[in-house]
Amino acid sequence: MIILGIESSCDETAAAVMENDERLLANVVNSQIDLHAKYGGVVPELASRKHLEDIFPVVDQALQEARITLDQVDGLAITQGPGLIGSLLVGLSFAKALALVKKIPYVGVDHMAGHLLSVFLGKTKPDFPFVALIASGGHSSIFLVTDYFHYTLLGRTRDDAAGEAFDKVAKILGLPYPGGPAISELAKNGDPDSINFPRSWLEPDSLDFSFSGIKTSVANYVKQNLRRAPQADEKNPSSVTANICASFQEAVVDVLATKTMKACRKLAATNVVLAGGVAANPRLREVFAKMAAREGFKVSMPPTQFCTDNAAMIALAGFHAFRQGAAGHSDMDAYSRSPLTELA
Ligand code: KG4
Ligand code: ZN
Repeated sequence: MIILGIESSCDETAAAVMENDERLLANVVNSQIDLHAKYGGVVPELASRKHLEDIFPVVDQALQEARITLDQVDGLAITQGPGLIGSLLVGLSFAKALALVKKIPYVGVDHMAGHLLSVFLGKTKPDFPFVALIASGGHSSIFLVTDYFHYTLLGRTRDDAAGEAFDKVAKILGLPYPGGPAISELAKNGDPDSINFPRSWLEPDSLDFSFSGIKTSVANYVKQNLRRAPQADEKNPSSVTANICASFQEAVVDVLATKTMKACRKLAATNVVLAGGVAANPRLREVFAKMAAREGFKVSMPPTQFCTDNAAMIALAGFHAFRQGAAGHSDMDAYSRSPLTELA
């Protein structure tokens, strides 16, 4: 079965072509970062307009790279939510129109399910059941995944998502959007033990996260140490900023990885997965792998190109949805919040 996956939930217009769940024939990601960077974050109205401009050429490019025509597509997989409604609607309407004209069946895919299954795009695949941490710009959630379709939410953030914290801290430090890559790059030259930012563990049994406190701590640190001593700063600005980045990153990584391992122990799971945009962070990958090895868990994470938003993960999740008999319908609507991340 040839699946064309389309993703437009935030600031990436993406299209991918997959043959079953095995062969990725094309993977095109058109990022809008340049458009939003000057505003320090995604501007929803601009995002949806840009998706409208880009969706045709992106899908066209994916078909060309896969060396197929639309007539060879057996199914369309389209991100239905969660995300920015205006952006989602561009992809969803495009897919519905394509499906109608070309008589191709289609399914709506939850973006979080896409991130959860993105690990199957990598070489090391987990065995079910597994515990998965999805850390992205919108979510920091721990799930128990029992098969391709069943995900139980074990923990989630009570305020900011991990990626959101990276983005906000980057803004405080005057670094470009998106903050995650900028901070992880600077952190390489910093000392992770130089500043003791607070780690929020919440109640002893809790698998939830909270990242708004550390963001405030960084803001206070910057106010007290950077702006009060501008001369000292000017002498060596990069090392101070690098130390803040490294210490902040270390604290977030520590909490994310420790809580996920705790979830595995609690559920007696021996397979653990890391995915979502923040999973592109090299230090998180390293600490996660080390902690999992110490516990004897098998760890799987997608290659970094499949951690941040892409349509390959949507095509893959779509393949499994088709296999299960799912079918889209013309009044299917986009949604901003995922039912998967709501507690039962
Ligand atoms: O999954 P994703 O592409 O979009 C959402 O579904 O939200 O995740 C984007 C988030 C952004 O907050 C970005 O700063 C973060 O992932 N991110 C990173 C890194 N690369 C991307 N965070 C930390 N370190 C990175 N290297
Ligand atoms: Zn995402």
